[in-house]
Amino acid sequence: MSAVNPWHEPVLADEVLEYLGPTNGGLYMDGTLGGGGHTRLILDRCDDCRVLGVDRDPEAIERARDVLEPHRARVRFIQERFDRAPRDPEIRDRGLDGALLDLGVSSHQLDQDRRGFTFRTGAPLDMRMSGGVGSDARAFLATAAEEELARVFRDYGELKRARRLASEVVKRRASAPLETSDDLVAALAVSLGRSPSAKEKARIFQAVRIAVNEELEALDAGLPAIRDVLRAGGVMVVIAYHSLEDRTVKNAFREWSRSCVCPPELPACICRGEALGTTLTRKVVRPTDAEVERNPRARSARLRAWRRAA
Ligand SMILES: C[S@@+](CC[C@H](N)C(=O)[O-])C[C@H]1O[C@@H](n2cnc3c(N)ncnc32)[C@H](O)[C@@H]1O
Repeated sequence: MSAVNPWHEPVLADEVLEYLGPTNGGLYMDGTLGGGGHTRLILDRCDDCRVLGVDRDPEAIERARDVLEPHRARVRFIQERFDRAPRDPEIRDRGLDGALLDLGVSSHQLDQDRRGFTFRTGAPLDMRMSGGVGSDARAFLATAAEEELARVFRDYGELKRARRLASEVVKRRASAPLETSDDLVAALAVSLGRSPSAKEKARIFQAVRIAVNEELEALDAGLPAIRDVLRAGGVMVVIAYHSLEDRTVKNAFREWSRSCVCPPELPACICRGEALGTTLTRKVVRPTDAEVERNPRARSARLRAWRRAA
């Protein structure tokens, strides 16, 4: 494996390269550029390939520009959501030989308290990947209906006492808005009736982050949009960190790999359909114990890959 990136160590690096298989002359999209770790590995693999580095976070783009300076002639940066990037004229007209999505947040985003992705004490409840544009976590917690809060805490945070936490947030915000990580942790502690563990806090903060950034909506829209701009034989690789994301990817790849799309009640196939492509990962790919030990943030990573029919 290549040298470690001090900013964000790329997860499942060897596996990404194995499935993406970058070759000379190819055009690849890294839809979640982050610290530029995977992009750099792709560029190192071939002297004559190019990468379109997409990230919705302007700080990530600026940072990756520095990291990728030696390769600047072969990278173009696009500050955009990955589900909208396929509208880019070069992508639309030429098509991609491969695309990577490494979902979630980068180490850099997590490590910067002012961005508010962390439950470390005193951090503002911001959590916007877009770097200051749109509604932040404060606004979400101040305005979302109690039902919506409960759904987010339950579905995205896997919290058993989601209703109780939602009701506690609604009760607290009636007297003062939740402003910092401590306010959300305090509400969680009351709903659990004890101090939450680090894992419980992380899950609730992750849940709010997923809602604030509409991460599942971006994935739902992004998968077919990217599929449609892959050239024949082009590969899409997705690394998910949450079971809902992984399920979305698994179902999409499975659906696109079916050759028959007749309703199940028909006794025989009449559609003579052809599969849009093939799922390359028969089973989900997880990091090795050695990788998790070296980089604990890889712990929940799950990789799947799909190839568009030739
Ligand atoms: C896990 S990091 C990627 C790290 C990168 N693979 C590396 O090795 O440095 C995820 C990045 O994707 C960005 N991101 C997440 N969702 C996005 C979306 N829907 N559109 C564009 N960028 C997104 C985040 O801002 C973050 O910088």
